[in-house]
Amino acid sequence: MKFFLDTANLAEIREVAGWGMLDGVTTNPSLAAKESQPFDELIPAICAVVPGPVSVECVSETADRIVPEARALAKIAPNIAVKIPITLEGLKATKILAGEGIMVNTTLIFSPTQALFAAKAGARFVSPFIGRLDDVSQEGMGLIQEIATIFENYRLATEIIVASIRHPRHVVDAALIGADICTIPFSVMAKLVQHPLTDIGIERFLKDWGKVKK
Ligand code: E4P
Repeated sequence: MKFFLDTANLAEIREVAGWGMLDGVTTNPSLAAKESQPFDELIPAICAVVPGPVSVECVSETADRIVPEARALAKIAPNIAVKIPITLEGLKATKILAGEGIMVNTTLIFSPTQALFAAKAGARFVSPFIGRLDDVSQEGMGLIQEIATIFENYRLATEIIVASIRHPRHVVDAALIGADICTIPFSVMAKLVQHPLTDIGIERFLKDWGKVKK
C-alpha cells in the first residue's frame, strides 16, 4: 500500500518524508486555505520534497477552462497530478488531459459508477471520500470494495486513493481490500504506529535497565 499525506502543510510533509513513509501528497482548496504561505510558492516547495505525485485541485467548472488551468498546474513540476471533481465537464477535460500524459486524480467520488466513468476517461487516480459517506450513515468502505472489484473485473489500471480517512481502522480495512493508496491526515498517520502496550513496554524496559549492574 502507498501512503499519501492529505495536507498542504510543508512541516508535516517534511516530517513524514523523514519517516520514509511518504509516497505522495493530496491537497485541496480547504487544506490550502489553512496555510499562510502563498499557494504559488507553496506548491513548488511541496513538489520538491515529495518523491511521488502531488495532487492539486482545479477550481474551474467547464472543460474549456479546466483544461488550461490543469495544463498550467502540470507545468509547475513533473510530479503534479491535477485533481478534477467528477462532473461531465470534468470527464471531458480528463479525456483531453490524460491524452496529453497529464496525471488526473478524479475527486469527490461517492459512487462506483462515478469511479468507472473516471477510469474510462483516463484518470490515473480516483479518490472516493469514505469518511464523508460514514458521516451520512453510508458505508464508506463498501464503496472501496465495489470500486476495487469493478476495476479488477475489467483490468482497469486506475489507482484507488482511499480519501477522507478519519482513523487507523479505515487504513486497516482499505489494506485488507487491497486498495492501492490511502491519503491520510497527519494526525491519523502518527496514530498508525502508536500502541499503549508499546509505550508501557518501553517504560518497563527503561526502568529495568536502570537496575542492571554495569
Ligand atoms: C482527498 O484528496 C481529500 O483532500 C480529503 O481526503 C478530504 O477529506 P475530508 O473529508 O476530511 O475533508
